[in-house]
Amino acid sequence: MKSEMEPLMVQILPDLHRSSSTTYIFTKPKSKPAKAIILLKAASFAITLGLFFLFFTIVLCEYWPSSFRYSVVIDAGSSGTRIHVFRYKIESGKPVFDFGEENYASKKLSPGLSAYADNPDQASVSVTELVEFAKGRIPNGRLKKSDIRLMATAGMRLLEVDVQEQILEVTRRVLRSSGFKFQDEWATVISGSDEGIYAWVVANYAIGSLGGDPLQTTGIVELGGASAQVTFVSSEHVPPEFSRTISYGNVSYTIYSHSFLNYGGQDAAQEKLLESLQNSVANSTGDGIVTDPCTPKGYIYDKKSIQAAGNFSKCRAATFAMLKEGKENCAYEHCSIGSTFTPTSLQGSFLATENFYHTSKFFELEEQDWLSEMILAGTSFCGEEWSNLKVKYPKTKEKYLNGYCFSSAYIISMLHDSLGVPLDDERIKYANKAGEKEIPLDWALGAFILNTPTTISDYGGKSRKMFGFGNETKYKI
Ligand SMILES: *[C@@H]1O[C@H](CO)[C@@H](O)[C@H](O)[C@H]1NC(C)=O
Ligand SMILES: *[C@@H]1O[C@H](CO)[C@@H](O)[C@H](O)[C@H]1NC(C)=O
Ligand SMILES: *[C@@H]1O[C@H](CO)[C@@H](O)[C@H](O)[C@H]1NC(C)=O
Ligand SMILES: *[C@@H]1O[C@H](CO)[C@@H](O)[C@H](O)[C@H]1NC(C)=O
Repeated sequence: MKSEMEPLMVQILPDLHRSSSTTYIFTKPKSKPAKAIILLKAASFAITLGLFFLFFTIVLCEYWPSSFRYSVVIDAGSSGTRIHVFRYKIESGKPVFDFGEENYASKKLSPGLSAYADNPDQASVSVTELVEFAKGRIPNGRLKKSDIRLMATAGMRLLEVDVQEQILEVTRRVLRSSGFKFQDEWATVISGSDEGIYAWVVANYAIGSLGGDPLQTTGIVELGGASAQVTFVSSEHVPPEFSRTISYGNVSYTIYSHSFLNYGGQDAAQEKLLESLQNSVANSTGDGIVTDPCTPKGYIYDKKSIQAAGNFSKCRAATFAMLKEGKENCAYEHCSIGSTFTPTSLQGSFLATENFYHTSKFFELEEQDWLSEMILAGTSFCGEEWSNLKVKYPKTKEKYLNGYCFSSAYIISMLHDSLGVPLDDERIKYANKAGEKEIPLDWALGAFILNTPTTISDYGGKSRKMFGFGNETKYKI
């Protein structure tokens, strides 16, 4: 389910009508022993052919105006590190993206970098392996012209700053000697609102609204494991600390973005709830047993003082109380979650991603009315015996299965009870892909889009210059 948690997976995305003649550049053939023998037999032919190709590769890659460019983003997340390798073209001075399988590949290794807090040097192993994966997909001649960036998110954000820096420095050592174009400040811990902005960018790019009227854009609500983000263009006044401005082409967007760290994320919130239950055990004068309304009854905890007693409405009330905590300190006109400013209404249409998507998919909810359906599905799930659930969902890992009572209640208390989204609101959809081309709603794609110059002075078109690139201008964040 949670894509963040799958170990070592190479994501292959649907083919998007590319001519096969372009494949060889991206998929660099690996020499295998069997092939080597055949090649030896045809040595002279191969050498001639090799030189021929070498010449053309150099000419094509270095000087051909429409040749491919490459860019790499490493997403250092809490549960693993995923490398994304992008290939794109410049046409008429503008980058042309395509996230089909010939132009986009990714690979993830677990655990995440934050797992190396006690032994930062070990972090180099997985980063090195991921860099090799990327190098296998990029012609050697293009490496030094291809950016590589590492962006770490919530898992690293929770570490002490000096530990973060030690781990980052280890990754920088790997990236500096990787052969890619790299600068030290390209390996950083990004903020939750950066992540929200990047997710917003890829969503609006996918839908086709990036570059258009700001008020016609689509907002994003993300529910991750360690943080949750709300990002959209609001016509209300937004205090500067919650407002970000980005430019895409000649359009400028002022965006509300906030990341609810700590208890914002689903896993973090569930942990916090359990912790507060444990505290109430320690403080209680009774039999020392408390009930957890967010876990189906019959589930056995390691800690005997907590008893699972699934009840959707009680769980919804408990999580709502948690999201409200600190609201009395709200220093703004309007706070919906804790003491954080949120605009009075979520304006326009929205996509709900990550765990909003995973939970909705798990319950097989209809696209329409999914919030009302979530209440029905959650009520039935939370009230079921744990042993029955295990029989009903034999393919779902227990640690994930155990989370769906909590997540269904948390989604309703966050979107409906706190942020005020009506249960029958058709403007909010759950999704993990968007647009005709079904582009994955992964913030790393947005980081790539936003870090690629939108205008590259014209060396293409009819009056192509065969040699040399033009000047590059960047209009970014
Ligand atoms: C941005 O550029 C496009 C075409 O290049 C033009 O049609 C559009 O009006 C411009 N928008 C603004 C806000 O200047
Ligand atoms: C007991 O209650 C107090 C006040 O609500 C709280 O600060 C504390 O963390 C709770 N737990 C323990 C173990 O004392
Ligand atoms: C769940 O709790 C509510 C009170 O919050 C109660 O009215 C309801 O009967 C409980 N449901 C079950 C199935 O026990
Ligand atoms: C590119 O353009 C900028 C601004 O117009 C100029 O300062 C810079 O020198 C140019 N670079 C090259 C390589 O021509």
